[in-house]
Amino acid sequence: MSDPRPDAPGLSLGPRRAAALARASEHVLHAWTEFDHARETETPVSPELSALLEAPLPEHGTDVLTTIDWAREVLDASMAQSRPRFFGYIGSSGLEVGALADLLAHSYDTNLAVDAGAATQLESQAVDWLAAFLGFPAGGGTFTSGGTISNITALTAAREAALPGSRHHGLGGARPTIYCSLEAHYSIVRAAETLGVGADHVRAVGIDEERALRPDLLRARLAEDVAAGFTPLAIVATAGTTLTGAVDPIDPLADLAEEFGVWLHVDGAYGLPAATVAQCAPRFAGLARADSLTVDCHKWMFVPKACSAVLVRDRRHLAATFAHDEAYVPHAEERLNAVDLTLEYSRPLRALKLWLALATHGASAMREAVARNCDQAQLLYDRCAEHEVLETLAHRPTLSIVPLRVRVPQCPDPDAHTAALCARLQADGRVFVSPATIDGHVWLRPCFTNFRTRDEDVEALVTVVLELGAACAGLHGPA
Ligand SMILES: Cc1ncc(COP(=O)(O)O)c(C=O)c1O
Repeated sequence: MSDPRPDAPGLSLGPRRAAALARASEHVLHAWTEFDHARETETPVSPELSALLEAPLPEHGTDVLTTIDWAREVLDASMAQSRPRFFGYIGSSGLEVGALADLLAHSYDTNLAVDAGAATQLESQAVDWLAAFLGFPAGGGTFTSGGTISNITALTAAREAALPGSRHHGLGGARPTIYCSLEAHYSIVRAAETLGVGADHVRAVGIDEERALRPDLLRARLAEDVAAGFTPLAIVATAGTTLTGAVDPIDPLADLAEEFGVWLHVDGAYGLPAATVAQCAPRFAGLARADSLTVDCHKWMFVPKACSAVLVRDRRHLAATFAHDEAYVPHAEERLNAVDLTLEYSRPLRALKLWLALATHGASAMREAVARNCDQAQLLYDRCAEHEVLETLAHRPTLSIVPLRVRVPQCPDPDAHTAALCARLQADGRVFVSPATIDGHVWLRPCFTNFRTRDEDVEALVTVVLELGAACAGLHGPA
């Protein structure tokens, strides 16, 4: 087909458009096919690629087919969370329709700051779908760039609810406090720092033997703080801690939130999708009582980064926190714009990838994929129990994180051994695992949040850890 605008100006691909798209889709298809199976080693960065990545700013361009090939080379030699044996951190896994949604959304480059027509309606529908999926009676919500921003957004609304008008006149003499578990994500502290609450006013409450927040300790701390003149601003229940996947008991925390008149936020950035899985659902009892929640669709709903959501039970709290009037933001018929309901201004249509994922695969496939990951965590735990040299935490995995270590008899420094093993696993490339420190000790911390992972990948993880764990023992020989 001939190009409709052969005289296109300099920054258009003009007649190379179709060829560029074909080349890019060739690379995408290759990647998707490759991601179906694990690869035995990571691709090293070649000297040619290194030279390319050290080149100075080009004054003149290179043909787009060549530059697209360069991009593919870079990505192919990079750590890719989409691979089925990537068990590090809490990854997203590049859901195929999610990647297509990004290409479409970025090509139209819709801006969700103000009313963007159908895209705004789609975002609102995606909020409703997500709320229905999780079983939360959301009155509103918004998509953000990640769990950190979602948590800050929710806690900004909590601050305005606890101290009405503080967005205008500051905290005055108030001394607000935020309550969360010892193992809450750092983004709660970051929110306290950002909101003027102060990191020192985040009360990190003790945890039980399954590493979930203890309501009895929280109650005592709330009572003590109220008596001392502090203003409790929010209780944060972490539904899936980053360290071990512990789920704080939401219902008892909702009771305390009611008793003390405090906002309840559920940070389910990682774990909330497990609320849809029958065997995990009881852990999330009371979710509907929360004032707000965070869920990262770019974690356990598999879509590519960046796509998080913050949902609130009562949308008016977002309006009270963020609505404003500026000459450059039109307010047609007094309707609120997205910028009146969230922290960010210019925003891409992040909701499209979740919307397309749910429209294409349906909620049931999403639930099944989350359930499979939970089963894989249980499988890994059971496999570890079969090997005396493999150590796990005393309790079974709550969600899909399974901390483990290799016991080396007479090893003088098990933590150094585990750290060395983790580095060796990463260098080996057959599986990717990241380390974590639990109660002062180093663990390997595999996490299953990948729809491509199969049971055979779990078996491979055990095999490689056993093989390299034994080989590594020499690094820290007998005492
Ligand atoms: C429980 C929890 N909250 C918040 C975050 C922050 O999310 P993001 O990295 O998307 O900002 C994470 C990240 O792992 C998390 O596990």
